[in-house]
Amino acid sequence: MPTSRKPIISGNWKMNLNHFEAIQTVQKLHYSIPKEVFDKVDVSVHPPFTDIRSVQTVIEADDLDLLLGAQHCHWDDKGAFTGEISPAFLAKLDVKLVVCGHSERRDLFGETDEMVNKKVHAIFKHGMTPIMCCGESLDEREAGETEAKVLTQVAAGLAKLQADQVASMVIAYEPIWAIGTGKTATADDAQAVCKAIRGAVGAQFGSDVAAAVRIQYGGSVKAGTTVELMAQPDVDGALVGGASLDPDEFSRIVQFAAD
Ligand code: 13P
Repeated sequence: MPTSRKPIISGNWKMNLNHFEAIQTVQKLHYSIPKEVFDKVDVSVHPPFTDIRSVQTVIEADDLDLLLGAQHCHWDDKGAFTGEISPAFLAKLDVKLVVCGHSERRDLFGETDEMVNKKVHAIFKHGMTPIMCCGESLDEREAGETEAKVLTQVAAGLAKLQADQVASMVIAYEPIWAIGTGKTATADDAQAVCKAIRGAVGAQFGSDVAAAVRIQYGGSVKAGTTVELMAQPDVDGALVGGASLDPDEFSRIVQFAAD
């Protein structure tokens, strides 16, 4: 990746680690990453909602260089939405980055492209940065529909955004068949789709925006696959699930991304 874009490695813990475990994990993670690495790589953690206040307190009290993230949010500030989470409340907890449109939210909880777009706008409204996910299923890949699917999701998710907003955000390409399966896209395949995403952003918002937007790859990322992925010109980081639960492994991913 070009040096003008700072790599970003994000740990999506999904529904794992209670708030005690979360505190231990962030402390261990921070301890195992040399201080100077944070100048070269942005590192975010996305704990379950019940952990966020505890993790925020640790990050503030110990002055950690980790960015606090969330895994999703609603698009309204408040109201009768039982069980939902307000983006305003997340911002109040100093959350910096919010994942939206993850395939698990789309497939298991019925999130549509339109809902994802509303969330992206809401996340920006509260001064946070979206990590907007996209990705194809195995059937779509085998039918040769990868780019069509991914670019449709990206165009819908970016609807009605300002160019400077798109330039500042993160897009995560996560092929669904590679999530939690141990199968990863080859570095070439990841590069091809990330390049197509950057091209589509450029066509819609201009070349400066395309050059600025950061694109992550996600799907069974491990320390062993990070170097080759990060060597791809259009891959600017990783959205890491399972491997982010292990501070030693996640720390290695972060450090490889800094090299
Ligand atoms: P895994 O790294 O466990 O495949 O998860 C990827 C993911 O979905 C991150 O959001």
